[in-house]
Amino acid sequence: MRGPDSMVKKYLFLAFILTTLGPVQAQSGAQEKVQTQETKKKYSVDANIVLSKARENYLLHCSQCHGEKGDGKGPVGESLDAPPRNHQDSAIMGRRTDEDIFKVISGGGLALGLSESMPPHSSIIPEDERRGLVKYIRKLCNCEYKK
Ligand code: HEC
Repeated sequence: MRGPDSMVKKYLFLAFILTTLGPVQAQSGAQEKVQTQETKKKYSVDANIVLSKARENYLLHCSQCHGEKGDGKGPVGESLDAPPRNHQDSAIMGRRTDEDIFKVISGGGLALGLSESMPPHSSIIPEDERRGLVKYIRKLCNCEYKK
């Protein structure tokens, strides 16, 4: 049945769509923005937790050789056959991939053809915390892997 009545209904329907769905869409856009901001905040909080745990591990397990600041001047280091790496040295650390660093921390120096004075840590530090240590070392050298 077509007639002026159905035209009115059509306009009413259109008006309904425009007034209802328009604002809903704008609102969901705003909501997305808030969510992205929250996700970002969450990630940076997570990253800070990872780094502070890594710092704890570093002071506990690494600093005796690599030094508290990662400069390679820890007290035990002097008695070793190879000097512990200065982790602030971006020229050297920049040549290592994250995976290389993870391998050395996990399997010790031998895992990367380095000195066995660098001990393995896979049985004393859980994997996610060893990955956190990789991030911490990236902070110490202020560098990323460069070919
Ligand atoms: C007993 C001393 C000792 C301890 C403890 C130690 N390291 Fe080492 N580490 C060394 C020595 C020595 C080297 C250098 C090996 C070489 O040059 O052949 C080294 C090398 C490294 C390297 C390789 C650097 C490169 O050239 O790529 C990384 C990464 C590293 N250590 C991380 C750590 C981390 C992280 C910890 C703590 C979880 C740790 N080390 C604990 C002695 C130690």
